Amino acid sequence: MFKWANLFGKNEIERDILSPNGRIKYHFSLKSRHIYYSVTKNDKTVIKSSRLGFLIAGEEPLRDNLKLIREQKKKHAETIELQWGEDRFIPNNYNETAFYLTEDKDPKRIFTFRVRVFDNAVAFRYEIPPQPKFRQISIQDELTEFNIDLNSTAWKIPAYQPDRYEYNYEKNFVHDLSHSVHTPLTIRTPNGFYLAIHEAALYNYGSMTIKLDENNALKTDITPLSDGTKAHCSLPFQTPWRLIMLADSATELTTNRTMFALNDAPTQNFDWVETLKFIGIWWAMYVGEWTWAPGERHGATTEHAIEYIDAAVRLGISGLLIEGWNEGWEGDWLENGIHNKFTVATSDFDLERVARYARQHNVEIVGHHETVGFIDNYERQLEEAYNYYAVNNIHYIKTGYAGSMMLINGRREFHHSQLGVNHYQKTVELAAKKHIMLGIHEPIKGTGIERTWPNLLSREGARGQEYEGGALSPSHACYLPYTRLLAGGMDYTSGIFDLANSVKRMATTLARQLAYFVTIYSGMQMAADRPYIYEERFPEEFNFIREVPTNFEKTVPLAGEIGEYYVVARKDRNSDDWYVGGVTDENGRRMHISLDFLSTGVYEASIYSDADHAHYRDEQFAINKQTKRVSRNETLDLYMAPGGGFAVRLKKLS
Ligand code: NOJ
Ligand code: CA
Repeated sequence: MFKWANLFGKNEIERDILSPNGRIKYHFSLKSRHIYYSVTKNDKTVIKSSRLGFLIAGEEPLRDNLKLIREQKKKHAETIELQWGEDRFIPNNYNETAFYLTEDKDPKRIFTFRVRVFDNAVAFRYEIPPQPKFRQISIQDELTEFNIDLNSTAWKIPAYQPDRYEYNYEKNFVHDLSHSVHTPLTIRTPNGFYLAIHEAALYNYGSMTIKLDENNALKTDITPLSDGTKAHCSLPFQTPWRLIMLADSATELTTNRTMFALNDAPTQNFDWVETLKFIGIWWAMYVGEWTWAPGERHGATTEHAIEYIDAAVRLGISGLLIEGWNEGWEGDWLENGIHNKFTVATSDFDLERVARYARQHNVEIVGHHETVGFIDNYERQLEEAYNYYAVNNIHYIKTGYAGSMMLINGRREFHHSQLGVNHYQKTVELAAKKHIMLGIHEPIKGTGIERTWPNLLSREGARGQEYEGGALSPSHACYLPYTRLLAGGMDYTSGIFDLANSVKRMATTLARQLAYFVTIYSGMQMAADRPYIYEERFPEEFNFIREVPTNFEKTVPLAGEIGEYYVVARKDRNSDDWYVGGVTDENGRRMHISLDFLSTGVYEASIYSDADHAHYRDEQFAINKQTKRVSRNETLDLYMAPGGGFAVRLKKLS
């Protein structure tokens, strides 16, 4: 029941909002007409007193002269169900207080500051209703601080860089974060807490980056537009949730799904959405066998597509991505992308015929739109381009936004600016209308909107395996579960088996390529190598890829440390089978994995693990394959070589 307190005109207040289990405390205060918050867990400080508010272009800051006019409390207890993902059920249990604030001087603007405290997170947002003389606002700066111990350790990637989110993670002290970094920003405090600062439900606003300001406070830095403002908003308007996930260990952090709970349930029917595993006319381009552009070695020809559809059928994989099928890849495709045509196939590619052949063979085509960030060009064609796929029964599209900036309304804008955010959203909503599912490369980071829009099956948004061949170290995939993957699934393009290829040498072992299908979740999961590599060289290893699901019931992290290693078990959504994956950095590790997450009964374990002499540098293919019967009382002893890993399928027998 709502509790209303009559607090008209209070200028000084102190309020505690406790998590349902009482361990986390969000302290909200109104002092000298300014608002602040702080957070403790088990009575230990996590976030020290931090300021809140906005600077507004052309007006006084919405920060000073505040008083509280009303408070509204609520308790919420619910379990939400996701249509697909890493966990089917997610707790949405919190205590909420909405603080209704006004200025005690003209222009007497009003806004609500809403706080939710969960057992594993706190979240808060600003809500600005329509009001006289205040219908549009241009945010000059959001002042929200996250005042954390400066001696905390942070794992970060830099913001505002040409390759967007595609950087290696670096470990720093918080006091070194003088340049803006992206969220999720994962932090370990000196008193032993793990937290990730992120946002949920990012709509119609610049994405939040974070940096240390002149006063040594960790502060939001909302991605600016080219006109220098952060966002133009018509009222009513609410910011995304500012989310602080909290955990006692690094592994506990990896299954924090509060971001999804902060997003709304879908308002339309998405029964037609299905996760997908696919191969692609893709890696052949990376290793130089084929090209995106038409010519002698063109990849996306009718003939190759038909060959790959036949291969998908033989491999038991339901989807096929075809890149380089449309006009626009000739010459310097990054420069020429402004002319890309999304409804015109190259002369050697018969899209209608390929789509028909795929349909006859029950293979889903994954179409491809590489926009190169030329949004004006793309949006002009958007409706027609989606129709073109839809009428050909193509229901999956991988989109791409290569290029360091977007071109929107003739101006260069950041991918993660308000205009970028709005563009991505437009594609998601139009796709939903046409029953199309999306996997977005060079995306806006995940903020859980796939709860509302389940047709947004995956994103890239970090360095993926396209960076192999020198730019990825074995530790990279050991950072992801604790950082990028807190923002949702990722298309890492796993399953490259041609590890020693001279053009793209992989810094992994073979077993680790299988592990990725478990450690890196994606609603659209790619088996990224060429089919002949799977069929001719590694048919047995490929069995694991064929079997591993793309939709899980439950995820149980088993062991790990940030940037060092990660071991996780996941239960299939549609059977009693479990899958376990592990990856390690440059250090070899022996893992003793208790199988106590299994239910009772006998399971057949198919194990793919590094041999004792395996090494990502020179013994990449040294793999042990073993099948044995196990039960929940047993332990598996598995070795992960330097740059290696393992994958286990546990099939329930009885
Ligand atoms: C970068 C994407 O990450 C990759 O998957 C794609 O093949 C290229 N851009 C070309 O669109
Ligand atoms: Ca990319």
